[in-house]
Amino acid sequence: MKTRQTEIVVVNPVQPEAEKIEHAASLLRAGEVVVFPTETVYGLGADALQVAAVERIFEAKGRPFTDPLIVHIAKLAELEMLVAEVSERAKLLAEAFWPGPLTLLLPKSPRISDRVTAGLQTIGVRMPRHPIAHALISALGSPIAAPSANRFMHVSPTTAAHVYDDLHGRIPLILDGGPSEVGVESTVLDLSGEVPTILRPGGISLEDLRRVLPLVELHRPAKHVEDEHTNDRQLAPGQMLTHYAPTVPLLLFDDSEQAMRAAMLSEIQRRQVQDERVGVLIADEDRATFESSGAVLYTLGSVSELEQVAARLFAGLRSLETAGVQVILCRSFGSAGLGLAIRDRLLKAASSKVVKN
Ligand code: TXA
Ligand code: MG
Repeated sequence: MKTRQTEIVVVNPVQPEAEKIEHAASLLRAGEVVVFPTETVYGLGADALQVAAVERIFEAKGRPFTDPLIVHIAKLAELEMLVAEVSERAKLLAEAFWPGPLTLLLPKSPRISDRVTAGLQTIGVRMPRHPIAHALISALGSPIAAPSANRFMHVSPTTAAHVYDDLHGRIPLILDGGPSEVGVESTVLDLSGEVPTILRPGGISLEDLRRVLPLVELHRPAKHVEDEHTNDRQLAPGQMLTHYAPTVPLLLFDDSEQAMRAAMLSEIQRRQVQDERVGVLIADEDRATFESSGAVLYTLGSVSELEQVAARLFAGLRSLETAGVQVILCRSFGSAGLGLAIRDRLLKAASSKVVKN
């Protein structure tokens, strides 16, 4: 693709300036892609009803057409044009969690292009709560298809600078609304089957969902489909485990607090003997242990403040990458509440390997 100038426009995240939003909306109308902030991570958007524009998203990210997109709406009426039917469950969840970090998978309307859903019979829909996202969808007057605004396989961006690092020269405009509040992507909940199933834990916790729909389950192993012709086992679309991969290997440690810290310290020492530069993602509570370890430290926040940890997680991974470390060590934050989404992202970055004593 040809290189182009990438403009960054700073927008007031509380009361977005109308002329800046209109500038972005006019690009979208013209079939362009635009990056905008949401409360979870930054999104790379296109008018969901223009197929050529949607294809530009895949081109800019380097993302294969087999990975479906989430469609973002500003009001509930827009859900009806995207899906075949709005179920009672969907209404309950929308009422409880929209606008917010929850994506619902519902049977798709035939009006929506297969490009958006990668040929699947379901479509992912979410109503973001970020004022800039909301204003942009409203100004366009059409739903916006948007994946996270990172290069394919990289960590999702939580600042405009992260987006610029990954996509400059490939997109015309980034709306900069400051750092993302939630910091991990939306929870993806499949409502197309009998049991509502979380395909990706995210900003709305399993516990919160169960308060509204007690039957919600967590999909655990990666879903595999048998290819009838070759007998190859392939990942189902939307189940690719390739996301959130930092460009540096990550080791996730999981144990009692004391054993975990001891194992991390000895791993740091072992690698330093081999002249490796080591990065460590720690909690406030770990500071004293690692302060004089010689490793590059990035503090995510207190183990009892998972909102803060989630909000800083992707910035932490990118910051250690930029610092030029050869490996990243990270402690566990449990799996209650937002911990489940944090653990999911760390496991993906660690290719599912956990270091235990
Ligand atoms: O918070 C978020 O969800 C952000 C912001 C921008 O809204 N978006 C985001 O999109 O994370 P993306 O494309 O990076 O991740 C969406 C995930 C992908 O793993 C995709 O495969 C899955 O959701 N997905 C989307 N539609 C699906 C569908 N119909 N069936 C199964 N999985 C689907
Ligand atoms: Mg993504």
